[in-house]
Amino acid sequence: MRLIMRNLLFALTPLCAFVPKIVYGQEGNRALPDPFTFNSGKKVKSVKEWEERRKEILETMTREMYGTSPGRPKNMRFEVFDLDKKALGGKATRKQVTVYIAENGREARFDLLVYVPNQAKHPVPAIIGLNFIGNQAIHADPGIKLTTAWVENSRMFPCAANGKATDACRGVNASQWAVDSILARGYALVTLYREEVASDRKEYAFQTGVHPLYPALQQREDNFSTVAAWAWALSRGLDYLETDRDIDAKRVAVFGFSRLGKAALWAGATDRRFAAVLSNESGAGGGKQFRRGIGEDINRLCTVFPHWYARSLNKYKGKDTELPFDQHFVLSLIAPRPVYLATAEDDKNADPQGEFATARAADGIYRFLGTSGFPDVPFPALNRPVSGQIGFHIRPGGHDVKMFDWIQFLNFSDLHLQK
Ligand code: GCU
Repeated sequence: MRLIMRNLLFALTPLCAFVPKIVYGQEGNRALPDPFTFNSGKKVKSVKEWEERRKEILETMTREMYGTSPGRPKNMRFEVFDLDKKALGGKATRKQVTVYIAENGREARFDLLVYVPNQAKHPVPAIIGLNFIGNQAIHADPGIKLTTAWVENSRMFPCAANGKATDACRGVNASQWAVDSILARGYALVTLYREEVASDRKEYAFQTGVHPLYPALQQREDNFSTVAAWAWALSRGLDYLETDRDIDAKRVAVFGFSRLGKAALWAGATDRRFAAVLSNESGAGGGKQFRRGIGEDINRLCTVFPHWYARSLNKYKGKDTELPFDQHFVLSLIAPRPVYLATAEDDKNADPQGEFATARAADGIYRFLGTSGFPDVPFPALNRPVSGQIGFHIRPGGHDVKMFDWIQFLNFSDLHLQK
């Protein structure tokens, strides 16, 4: 109610002495595209006008980068195939749910693993995120179903046999999922496996999971990309959570690491039901500002991972520093909802300073919408989180999800989701 009142107030107030700290379009040939200026050149003067400009930005990012996703499917059902009220030594209730989606005579399915803390007051807030190696990889709990989708056998996760998960895949990725801490802090944890949603192997891209349900969406330049499919599946996970009485679906944060952090940001940008976004080292095509021209670039993204973004992004290869948009547009779509960008010192490809630059560049929109935005501080020292409605930290070490990252995500979520 307070939020509605506040928005109403802003909608009625013309731009109240608001001056964004960033001067868009005034940084030499690195001019930063201005979220406050309509395509027509007109300036946004009120929150009501921002709603219109937001539509333009959503259209631009969809058309030029992420591609078009289907809406909420008409034929979707949820089957809870597992319920254990005494999971993890009695700490949690474990549910496993298959999401079935049918379209154009085909059916896709993927599983959600849900842990609800037994001690907390229900309904609880939740954190939902995609995982890399299958639901069974996030915890050694023997009750988790082994994924039947393809699983990579890498140096980091040497557990699959002929592309199939084995018992050795149980808990192989547990170090990146602070399940106990998340539950102890009163959050449910929900996860789903990227390969069940859409193949991340470029030779199988668009041929597995949800993509075959929408063949027409591949026949266009702004095709339904893999990052967009992952984001869309997170929204379907939220559709399920809206039916689960243990969860408060109005307090769900979407989390992701790396490529899955890119998807989490797009999920938050496209689905306003997500109450917060927690992005861990999402880097290029995620939290990093392309315009700095540092770290992984569009050419590499479109060449090594051609399925991640829409084909339309190819036209910007080599043009990172002159894009008509940049990733602060994605944060602007998330605004005014809280978003956290976590980075790591040795994760140079993801350009931590570039993620900081994005937070800085989105501050104006966040403050315009009546929030604290991003504190006006210099690039922080290691392990010194900066926290406003936009949060940021850089920690020592490389590309990973560490306990330090989770503690900051939980502190940030407490500020915004537990009040
Ligand atoms: C590669 C890629 C990154 C991505 C990462 C990951 O390193 O270049 O953009 O974030 O994979 O998903 O782990």
